[in-house]
Amino acid sequence: MCGIFAYLNYRVPRTRREICETLIKGLQRLEYRGYDSAGVAVDSPGKAVKDDNNHISLIKKKGKVKALDEELYKKDTLNLDEEIDTHFGIAHTRWATHGEPSAVNSHPQRSDKNNEFVVIHNGIITNYKELKKYLNSKGYEFESETDTEVIPKLIKYLYDKRESEIVSFSMLVEQVIQQLEGAFALVFKSRHFPGEAVATRRGSPLLIGVRSKYELSTHQIPIQYNSGKFCLLPAPCPFVNYIVFNLCTHVSLTDHLFLLNSAIIEHTNKVIYLEDDDIAAVAEGKLSLHRMRRQAGEDPVRAVQTLQMELQQIMKGNFESFMQKEIFEQPESVFNTMRGRICFDSNIVILGGLKDHLKEIKRCRRLIMIGCGTSFHAAVATRQILEELTELPVMVELASDFLDRNTPVFRDDVCFFISQSGETADSLMALRYCKERGALTVGITNTVGSTISRETACGVHINAGPEIGVASTKAYTSQFVALIMFGLMMSEDRISLQKRRNEIVNGLKHLPELIKNVLKLDQKIKSIADELYQQKSLLVMGRGFNYATCLEGALKIKEITYMHSEGILAGELKHGPLALIDKHMPVIMIIMRDPCYNKCQNALQQVTARQGRPIIICCEDDPEIMKNAYKTIELPHTVDCLQGILSVIPLQLMSFHLAVLRGYDVDCPRNLAKSVTVE
Ligand code: F6R
Repeated sequence: MCGIFAYLNYRVPRTRREICETLIKGLQRLEYRGYDSAGVAVDSPGKAVKDDNNHISLIKKKGKVKALDEELYKKDTLNLDEEIDTHFGIAHTRWATHGEPSAVNSHPQRSDKNNEFVVIHNGIITNYKELKKYLNSKGYEFESETDTEVIPKLIKYLYDKRESEIVSFSMLVEQVIQQLEGAFALVFKSRHFPGEAVATRRGSPLLIGVRSKYELSTHQIPIQYNSGKFCLLPAPCPFVNYIVFNLCTHVSLTDHLFLLNSAIIEHTNKVIYLEDDDIAAVAEGKLSLHRMRRQAGEDPVRAVQTLQMELQQIMKGNFESFMQKEIFEQPESVFNTMRGRICFDSNIVILGGLKDHLKEIKRCRRLIMIGCGTSFHAAVATRQILEELTELPVMVELASDFLDRNTPVFRDDVCFFISQSGETADSLMALRYCKERGALTVGITNTVGSTISRETACGVHINAGPEIGVASTKAYTSQFVALIMFGLMMSEDRISLQKRRNEIVNGLKHLPELIKNVLKLDQKIKSIADELYQQKSLLVMGRGFNYATCLEGALKIKEITYMHSEGILAGELKHGPLALIDKHMPVIMIIMRDPCYNKCQNALQQVTARQGRPIIICCEDDPEIMKNAYKTIELPHTVDCLQGILSVIPLQLMSFHLAVLRGYDVDCPRNLAKSVTVE
């Protein structure tokens, strides 16, 4: 979805150019979250507005962050070389939900023509129509089609209505969020509170990076509990308590940097994860955290934590795109998923995040695997082996459909939430739904500190490293491996399964090497892509352990090449899809030496009998297949249940080459964003 980034320098002189550069760089790191328009708000040069030193300039542009960057330097009124001692700048890159991509719909959104309050927002305000109607009735006129615009207008309304001169910025924001429904991460800037920053969240992630001259590693920041309930709609009532600004224990800071992991890491690795409805405020260089009231059992502090991430993990290095880099990282990312968790001598697997819950999991009625898109495919890919190793029924569910159906969930169910980002709204809603019904919840995520990893009872971090390319690649193979490790852990005491376990552990041991060998096929795959890239459609067919590869391969192809692509279960071929086959329809088939081999051969016969010309992903040295193939992509052989990790890689590479040949930006596919934080 959208990416938001803000930067505050306190008594650290910076030129406006440096501030803008920091904001733009932050946006570039977050651009994968949305890239149809972008904007920043910075303090205007004093001389630009003679009567007011606190004027705010908004610079917004349709298109990518690069277009905004160019626009900034065209603005000679910005006086880029002026040095500013204390300054708070906010920035946003957008993935449109309400209103088309345009400068006026991009963020920051503002309260009025004087930019008294400006706001950046990630998420969706579901009651914006009611709020807009209310504000309209108070004389506010709206200029954009966004849901967000109600927020700056609302805060201005509350500010103008204040009953005393003493009002704090954070208190106003507290009153604002009491009116909001939906999901949001918000950052506010105001000319009435120069050098001050306020940020808050509900349902969307928000992280504060802290750079301080003091050692912050063990610091805990206490929460201030501010005021009572404030109600604007439907019956407006007077403000409660806003005059009393609770004094709090402050941390003294030199710099504060707000927001998301990948944008923060180049400035600091000290971060604070905000919880829903936390309000973080910086005034006079002091950070304080506020909430409305303390709930039973709630932690009254937020710890300053250390992010485990290296800068080079978020750089492209020598690759053309993040997606390509991430495909080629898979020998290491898969290794990192297993690192320290598998003892290859004793075949023991220990997933630290699950071991305390293992007994409970073993007693459960069924396992429910829930995810969206690629993460759902990881569940499909491992379902069969999990059923075999756990001897439990395993349901795989798309989070949105699971919720639409009001699926029955019981206290003795164990529900897995598979999510690279750990922030996907559909998966998060499904998680809360399962928690309410008393099920044990397990997170399988790639993002430490993400909402799903925090809200689940236990879980596994897949440790694939940051995934920036919008099309998920290395997260899929690491989710796959993590789920198989879970199956191995569950079956450790099953004598009858030891032979199978040994075979799989041995397969996992050699997996990184085998992935390297598959990656060597890159040029061959590119030459096949050269033949295919002008086609309109591409079918991907297989069954058994490789069915998920078909779904995942087709998803990769459609999302970055914009070709129509379908993953077809080969067993279903004769029930419909066969009608599509002729000599013009490109078909990729996956036929590995596994229990479905003979059945796949039947499907191959049916395709060739209709003059289809299949490109076959198969095992090395399979003359039978080669005889009937138009082309083959030969893969090293591994254990049947791991083969899908190898067979998906040629399709990742294929989609990458097809997209490049068709002239598309593989890291920024149209209409998509990396982390889908709206339902
Ligand atoms: C496809 C892709 C998406 C995500 C889906 C879930 O390449 O990346 O289908 O897999 O949006 O995202 P996470 O895993 O972050 O929950």
